[in-house]
Amino acid sequence: MSTLWHGRFEGGPAEELLAFTVSLPFDQRLAADDLQGSRAHVRGLVRAGVLTDGEASMVLRALDQVESELEAGSFVFVPSDEDIHTAIERRVTELAGAAGAKLHTGRSRNDQVATDLRLYTKRAVYRIGSRLLELQEVLLARAVEAAEAYLPGYTHLQRAQPVLLAHHLLAHGWALSRDVDRLLDTRRRLDVSPLGAGALAGSSLRLDPAGVAAELGFAAVFDNSLDAVSDRDFVAEVLFDLAMVGVHLSRIGEEIVLWSSEEFRFVHLDDAYATGSSMLPQKKNPDIAELARGKSGRLIGDLTGFLATLKGLPLAYNRDLQEDKEPLFDALDQVELALGAMAGLLRTVQFDVEAMRAAADTATSSATDLAEWLVARGTPFREAHATVGALVRRSLTEGRSLAELVGQHPDLGLDAAALLAEGVAVRRRTSPGGAGPEPVAAQLERFRERVAADRERLGEGR
Ligand code: ARG
Repeated sequence: MSTLWHGRFEGGPAEELLAFTVSLPFDQRLAADDLQGSRAHVRGLVRAGVLTDGEASMVLRALDQVESELEAGSFVFVPSDEDIHTAIERRVTELAGAAGAKLHTGRSRNDQVATDLRLYTKRAVYRIGSRLLELQEVLLARAVEAAEAYLPGYTHLQRAQPVLLAHHLLAHGWALSRDVDRLLDTRRRLDVSPLGAGALAGSSLRLDPAGVAAELGFAAVFDNSLDAVSDRDFVAEVLFDLAMVGVHLSRIGEEIVLWSSEEFRFVHLDDAYATGSSMLPQKKNPDIAELARGKSGRLIGDLTGFLATLKGLPLAYNRDLQEDKEPLFDALDQVELALGAMAGLLRTVQFDVEAMRAAADTATSSATDLAEWLVARGTPFREAHATVGALVRRSLTEGRSLAELVGQHPDLGLDAAALLAEGVAVRRRTSPGGAGPEPVAAQLERFRERVAADRERLGEGR
């Protein structure tokens, strides 16, 4: 069997070595980026005087042929193809002969794989960003549609104060905005070409890393060849960004799980986005929401596992770095699927605004408004808090309605009792960024603008 390093070796590789070290099964998805990187490298080699124009066109034709074979599924892999880079170079050499054998001049798989992975990750960031924006648009549309519907807001999962449903939905929307922002920030840092770093120290040839970087659409080129081939910060960063998306989806998921329970009944899932039980005929289960919650554990694992791989690695390339791909691909795949499924679920979920309203319109949800009513009339807040708290306690122990007690209280009276009427409390949430109709109308506009601006920043997919 012929390896890329056969010159130095007397014998071929052991079967166990190949079985343990191959990455082809999972790095095949870098094929398009590998071809793109090789094309740029070939043109760079012409500028460096290593390849003639004639040789370059033979190699470029061979690369085109490899591309068609891969696309058609007719590309034949051989046992010595330990990774996609080896496989492509082997085939190019078969097709272009001596010219093909010059493709790898001045290049190592170390700078090659780092280049491929950065190209791939840039495209992946675009895909995830688009999915995030789609989910945000669903939240926005549902928030607009929710109009003045309201539900209890919770702290400690205890009813606290009523909030508009739109406000609640947008709370998740803003979290996703930070995810988009983080991904864009990560993309800016990962947009650096490592090609031309060679194995670790550059080359004696007149390579032109900046020209190659520009041709590949990178915003910048590496400054230090050792750093270029060993830097996987971008993988760790994307894994964090994705884990954070996962955590956000898990929190939305948990609320859907709660809200779809018979205890809450705030939402009814569309049949297409719910599952049944194999045994219990009456069941309708929120599996998407549960898996959004569950998969966040795996995404956190992808991040922490990879950080552990990086920890303590000496410069420059070490084979350990091959372990960057599986967690990255897994996290990208899972988050993309989760975003699509959650967007579908939220697009079709039916909000039971009547059940939400009934849960929100309990007298005690206006307790803070009563205290603030006293504050507006000069009572220090602590005192007002104690007065209202005592009334709530009396209402509970004496089994009398809070409205009646408030109406009879010398400092409160009927005007204050009117605050306890249905739908009053939520309309009093008027402060900027608050949960009532006035600030939420302004917020909806800001959110709409933010999503549009982020779409602009994300740009076009390549
Ligand atoms: N498959 C390897 C990876 O994914 C490619 C680099 C191999 N380099 C080496 N010196 N063995 O990292």
